[in-house]
Amino acid sequence: MSNCKINTYLANLAVWTVKLHNLHWNVTGHIFKPLHEYTEALYDEAFEAYDAVAEVLKMRDRMPLSTMKAYLEAATIEEVDPRDFTCCEVVSMVEADMQTMMKLALEIRNEAAERDDFQVQSLFEGYIEGFTKQLWFIRAMKKEGGAQECCGGSCGCGGH
Ligand SMILES: [Fe+2]
Repeated sequence: MSNCKINTYLANLAVWTVKLHNLHWNVTGHIFKPLHEYTEALYDEAFEAYDAVAEVLKMRDRMPLSTMKAYLEAATIEEVDPRDFTCCEVVSMVEADMQTMMKLALEIRNEAAERDDFQVQSLFEGYIEGFTKQLWFIRAMKKEGGAQECCGGSCGCGGH
């Protein structure tokens, strides 16, 4: 059951890595550069986790999902069609997807703790710790003077 969730998590990492590239390439607006770089840092982390999570399944004689078709079927993170995205849209999408990842990581961590699987527990505790920090970054970005200025028009920089 829990391994099934780990495969869902793996599928999400694959889809999220691609989606974060979409946001990385297509973000527009006042804080393009920081968001372009931020999404890059996130897809690097997601890609690293992608391999680690698959290997944890192999160590338990479980078959990790390994095709794009399987990822799209299993993932709970949805792709988005490419277009120009505002900074606000990017921040909101990253936040929503990160909350999805965080919730699933917590379920996997708790189920691993129940069966004394300390390796999975510790791996996912690391991911939860990372998401907790990133969600704080995102909340800070959304405050006045941050990403909101892209769509709120309140930054006082003359419409540039
Ligand atoms: Fe790039």
